[in-house]
Amino acid sequence: MRTVTKDNITDVFAGYFGEDTDPRLKEVLTCLARHLHDFARETQLTHDEWRKGLELLKWAGDITGPERNEFVLLSDVMGLSSLVDMIHSVPEATSSSVLGPFHVSNPPPLAIGADMKRHYDGDVLLVEGVVYDTDNKPLAGATLDIWQTAPNGLYSSQDEEQDIHSFHALMTTDENGRYSFTTVKPVEYTVPSDGPVGEILKAAGRHPWRPSHLHFIAHAEGCRSVVTEVFPDDDPYLDQDTVFGVREDLVMSYERKAAGTFPEGLELSGKVTGEYLRVEFDFHLSRDS
Ligand code: BEZ
Ligand code: FE
Repeated sequence: MRTVTKDNITDVFAGYFGEDTDPRLKEVLTCLARHLHDFARETQLTHDEWRKGLELLKWAGDITGPERNEFVLLSDVMGLSSLVDMIHSVPEATSSSVLGPFHVSNPPPLAIGADMKRHYDGDVLLVEGVVYDTDNKPLAGATLDIWQTAPNGLYSSQDEEQDIHSFHALMTTDENGRYSFTTVKPVEYTVPSDGPVGEILKAAGRHPWRPSHLHFIAHAEGCRSVVTEVFPDDDPYLDQDTVFGVREDLVMSYERKAAGTFPEGLELSGKVTGEYLRVEFDFHLSRDS
């Protein structure tokens, strides 16, 4: 018999694995237990604190369902989702950023130069650029899955006034890897804060805001897909994104362009007569190894 003590419990845990345990699983679980045990020893975690933590996890489980995953949100606000992304990022490729819960499957195709905002009013934003590989070769036929908030700060799945595909689109790049579309400037918004994650943020004196952004999943045959976001450089929440999604290469200037300069050849050509905004953003995808 071996007596378990607060100092040897981590080693005892490591000794309980079966002989055929997958080595990677053993590595991850042993390391997790080591950090959990160190965390409890270092903070001298009390029973009340331990119970409160488990209650929050139970609450997260209770409100998690097909439409909402509170555990992913917890991972997001703890910085874990972003950290895992950054650990596996390819330095020459466009940085990845959080997916978030508002992506929808089967977005409607949008032709190059078309308008994604449909009947919505707001500052017109022209978004254009090129999808390249990391050797700067343009990628024809790459796809961009695009989504954003409506001007009221809500995604389609949060808003009964919008149909599910509102502000969602799938664009395929032309023979030069180019894409372009018009929309309205996205607005900053709060992550869902009516559950345990909201309670943690509130207790920690943190706000639930994210800087405004456009979401993209860039995909091309033979390349690693990138889930990412593009932020305007003047957003007030840029340095305090509650889910830690901002990376330097994703922050762009949304230039204000003079009236009468809207380009030809787009769906809104001739209709945008006043000022508008323009952002140019190129994607760089690494080749599958
Ligand atoms: C979003 O950007 O849509 C988002 C990301 C993480 C958590 C909640 C929302
Ligand atoms: Fe978002």
